[in-house]
Parts: sequence; C-alpha cells; structure tokens
Amino acid sequence: MRTQVAIVGAGPAGLLLSHLLDRAGVESVIVETRSREYVEARIRAGILEQSTVDLLRDNGLGERLDREGDVHRGIYLQWPGERHHLDFTELVGRSVAVYGQTEVTKDLGRARDAAGQQIVYEVADTAVHDLETDAPFVTFTRDGETVRLDADVVVGCDGSFGPSRAAVPNPQTWERIYPYSWLGILADVAPSTDELIYAWHPDGFALHSMRSETVSRLYLQVPNGTDVADWSDDRIWSALSARFALDGWTLNAGPITEKSVLPMRSFVQQPMRHGRLFLAGDAAHIVPPTGAKGLNLAVADVALLAPALAALVRDEDSTLADTYSDDALRRVWRCTHFSWWMTTMLHTSTDPFDARLQLAQLRWVVSSEAAARELAENYAGLPIRF
Ligand code: PHB
Repeated sequence: MRTQVAIVGAGPAGLLLSHLLDRAGVESVIVETRSREYVEARIRAGILEQSTVDLLRDNGLGERLDREGDVHRGIYLQWPGERHHLDFTELVGRSVAVYGQTEVTKDLGRARDAAGQQIVYEVADTAVHDLETDAPFVTFTRDGETVRLDADVVVGCDGSFGPSRAAVPNPQTWERIYPYSWLGILADVAPSTDELIYAWHPDGFALHSMRSETVSRLYLQVPNGTDVADWSDDRIWSALSARFALDGWTLNAGPITEKSVLPMRSFVQQPMRHGRLFLAGDAAHIVPPTGAKGLNLAVADVALLAPALAALVRDEDSTLADTYSDDALRRVWRCTHFSWWMTTMLHTSTDPFDARLQLAQLRWVVSSEAAARELAENYAGLPIRF
C-alpha cells in the first residue's frame, strides 16, 4: 500500500488529522489496533474548549455538536459549606461545550466514511520504519498477513502505549505520578447541576460532570490501587453525596451503567518529531483529567500539524514542519502546568498544611477577579497558535 501520510491510531487525533489533510488535498491511510466499535464506545473526556468547537465547526464537523452539545458559561468551585460560580463568558468572553469524546469520534468517523477515507481496523504488530529517510513506512499484520504501507510521512496518534512514541530515539521525558486516582461513573440520571462542580472535601475531591440531560458523569478521588469491586453503587452515591453536600441542594442518584478507576499522571516527551515521524496527542503527552485538557490538546496538535504536513508533502516546504514540535510544546507545557495546578489545588492529601493552602487558594480564585480570570482563560482554552 502507498499513501502520502500514514497515520497510526484512529482515535480523535488520527481521525481529525486525516479529515484536515483531506481538506488540504492530502491523502492518508489510518491503521488502528482496536475495532471501530471499541474506539467509538470508549468513555473519555467530555469538555470541548472554545477553540476546539470553532475548529470542528470550521471544518464541517459542527452540525450535531451544535444541536446536541451543551454550551457551559463556566464551572462551580466548592468546598465544605460554599459553592461559587465562575462565569468564563463574563471573565474572558469564551465558553466550553459539553460533548463526549465518543460523539466527536462518531462524527469524525461518519465524515471520514463520506469522504471514502481508508481506515484499517484491528491490525496487530504495528511498527514504524526508516523514519530518518524520505521513504518511511509502517508495517502491520491483518488476518495473518503482513502489510507494508509506504508514505512520505508517518504520524503517531497511537497514545502513550503505541509504537510511535517508543520509536523516537533518546527523547527527553518528564513525568509526575499523582498519589491518587479517580473512580469514574456514568449514571442514567439527570444531572443535579446546570454546570460542572469541582468540589474540594476532606474525604477527597469530587467532580460532577454530565453527558446529556439524562446522563451524569461523576468522579471521586480514591487511593491508588483502588479496586472498583470494593465500591458498591450505594457506597459511591453516599460518598458523592457527602462530598457535594450543600444546604438546600440534593444529588440525584440513579442506575450506574459504567464504573472504572483512572490513574492520574502528567507526562511530556520531547521532541514531538523524529525525521519523518511526527507525534500528536497522547503519544507525546498525558495530563491528569482535572483541567479537561487531554482531548483539547490533541486537537490543538493536529490543528498545527495538518497545515505543516500539507506544506511538506504538497509543496516540499518544511518551514511549519520544522517548528511543529516547538510550537506544539509551548501549549503542551502551558496545559501541563494548568492541569497540575487544578489537580494539586483540588485533591486532598494527608498533610493538614496542604489543606489550608488549598482552601486559601480556592478562596483567592473566587474572590479576586484577576485570579478567576486566570483560571477561566486556561480552562476555556487558549488560541491554537498560543
Ligand atoms: C468529564 O466529563 O468526563 C470530565 C469533565 C471535566 C473534567 C474531567 C472529566 O475536568
């Protein structure tokens, strides 16, 4: 097989890249180890920054998002006895949309189908080769047969466990493992709030998010190594009720349809390019979910990469490709800081001094307009070319 851009991974980053390349007249083939059903159903993020929404809309992907996505003006920050609203629209003139990654992936899949995109699902043994030459290629097996895919450029959108990241020799890496995890649930119950609640509590952080008018998504801070089997539905709802407790407000409980434990990690690998291999999304960086930045960062990478690759393979102009890694990493590090800051401000440790500092910081964020604006500017998202 031969194409201009070989993309490893059919998650949102890989699908969006193929979409943007197609619109720029560049051909690509995507290979993916999982099945399409798996990729479209895996539960991930749910918050789209303003610039993500704008990019999807500007590229013909906004129709269902505009119909079904829920625009949020801000978030609530809470600690025992107090809940405060931060209005991003008022503070920075930007908002966010609640629209699940599952839905973004389905919309992208349909758009790619309509364009006749070639996506090879359920491949095994994917490997990338000859990245330092002008003729890189990808190999994989499918139905027991080995396939070679030749390309001008290879892009790794295959997450932190895929083969692309590992193919960059001697990268610099930075990592922070946090001493807690999230227990996340999906429940068939109307959200008890109009906008997300981020709650600090001595028992641990809790987050009330949502997917639709009838589906809530909630999270509890739990110790690392927590086994979901130890958390019955009753135990989960009573822990959530305790952490979100506020006079005159009640948390609606309902049937839990999904339950899982998520580790919390920050990771950055630099550079995001090696020869003719480019990395995008989780292949190059991981953020803890507290700032809702993971999917948005992947979209921003791809928004920078698509024009860079189009210029490279169409016009043999490498200017943007040569600055891609530095351009993307500027934003990656900003979001890495924001995600770390939100995480460490809201998750309780065993240190009572830390708790006092966190509460002082939370009060500062809701009482100083400058501090509120700083959170809002980061949460609602920076322009793509930040
Ligand atoms: C989610 O809805 O899954 C979600 C929302 C906000 C976060 C993290 C996760 O910060």
